[in-house]
Amino acid sequence: MANKWAPDSWRGMNILQQPTYPDTNLLSDVEERLKKFPPLVFAGEARRLKAELAKAASGEAFLLLGGDCAESFAEFHPDNIRDTFRVLLQMAVVLTFGASVPVVKVGRMAGQFAKPRSAPTETQGDVTLDSYRGDIINGIEFTEEARRPDPERLIQAYNQSAATLNLLRAFAQGGYADLHKVHQWNLGFVEDSALGERYQDLANRLDETLAFMAACGLSSDTTPQISETDFFTAHEALLLNYEQALTRIDSTTGDWYDTSAHLLWIGNRTRDPNDAHMEFMRGIANPIGIKAGPTSDPEEFLKICDTLNPENEPGRLTVIVRMGADKVEELAPPLIRALTREGKNVVWVCDPMHENVTTSANGYKTRHFDNILSEVRSFFSIHQAEGTHAGGVHFEMTGQDVTECVGGAQAITEANLSDRYHTHCDPRLNAKQSLELAFLLAETLKENRLVEPSRAVAQS
Ligand code: PEP
Ligand code: CO
Repeated sequence: MANKWAPDSWRGMNILQQPTYPDTNLLSDVEERLKKFPPLVFAGEARRLKAELAKAASGEAFLLLGGDCAESFAEFHPDNIRDTFRVLLQMAVVLTFGASVPVVKVGRMAGQFAKPRSAPTETQGDVTLDSYRGDIINGIEFTEEARRPDPERLIQAYNQSAATLNLLRAFAQGGYADLHKVHQWNLGFVEDSALGERYQDLANRLDETLAFMAACGLSSDTTPQISETDFFTAHEALLLNYEQALTRIDSTTGDWYDTSAHLLWIGNRTRDPNDAHMEFMRGIANPIGIKAGPTSDPEEFLKICDTLNPENEPGRLTVIVRMGADKVEELAPPLIRALTREGKNVVWVCDPMHENVTTSANGYKTRHFDNILSEVRSFFSIHQAEGTHAGGVHFEMTGQDVTECVGGAQAITEANLSDRYHTHCDPRLNAKQSLELAFLLAETLKENRLVEPSRAVAQS
């Protein structure tokens, strides 16, 4: 890997999971246009997230990263943005109040458009077309025209991201996220359920706490932490033409930042140390994530840490472990031990979604709530045993009442999947399942915080 980095030094290197654009002149033209567009996020915000993630690395905060598997142009609607945002707020309040831990909120939103695929083409009957690669690249409809990669989609993705981010900023800072609104965040279809009652109960207790704090002089007027929240964005940095065009020098530090999101991550399929994605990501100063799937080699990950985080800066690197409920206990400890042995500062995050995918008898790509829960639980107990910190979770979820994952208190069955299966890519937890998971997570976090990791090690 060349030492000299530039926003375009990835070009010419081996690169996986990219479209082949029929019109490369148009692609260059679009990239030039994008380079002149305003940044979506600011370097100072990315640095603030890095500082928050440093706390998650040392167990003083917890990362909640969630949102769509793939955002789509068709589902772009303020209600969808609001509903996902408010479920994330609900989950965060359940975790903060239930486990007394600050929660760092990050949406897989405002830029999560490009998707890695298991096959470059898709065949239906005797027709073979390019696979759908996410709305930033091509369309999901199975027609030759829709599947043709179209550079103009980068502009549409940018515009949608800008508008989404604008609304998220307004929600986070304009009063919607005020803790006094905690009752109103409850979504209609969650409200009339046992889970809804449990949430209302928590909200009532929070009200009492807020009333007590107000009596002590801490109110929304005096304390911004009550009236607003920090909300950050993240997506997989897959389509490097887009990421490069939004990479700018921060005038205050002279460092390069990818201004398309606060946090960018390298996917499980594009994490080869010699490839273009690693090259691009090493040069941007944002906090970055890397997925660690079942084939991750601990020694190779050590080298990756050196490449991506040569200064071993806390908060810079988040390792998103996605091993699968049945494999995590075997595969995560060697990785955790190798990095811990070498003193690598990372945030350990559990993605219990991507290795727990199955196909239902009626042909739907789905995930079982129990497997998701089981992987999260294992992840926590592994860290407890290793004396390290489970720093966060990464979920695919939505505020909509979809039926994409099986199980949970709602007891969604395989037969129910066809009712409201809307995802453009992987199956997502719906609002109820997300909230249910947050309650279970809060319990586990609370239990773990009551037992010092070092004591757990001594006992084991
Ligand atoms: C994803 O997060 O949507 C994804 C494709 O994950 P992974 O790279 O872990 O397979
Ligand atoms: Co996914």
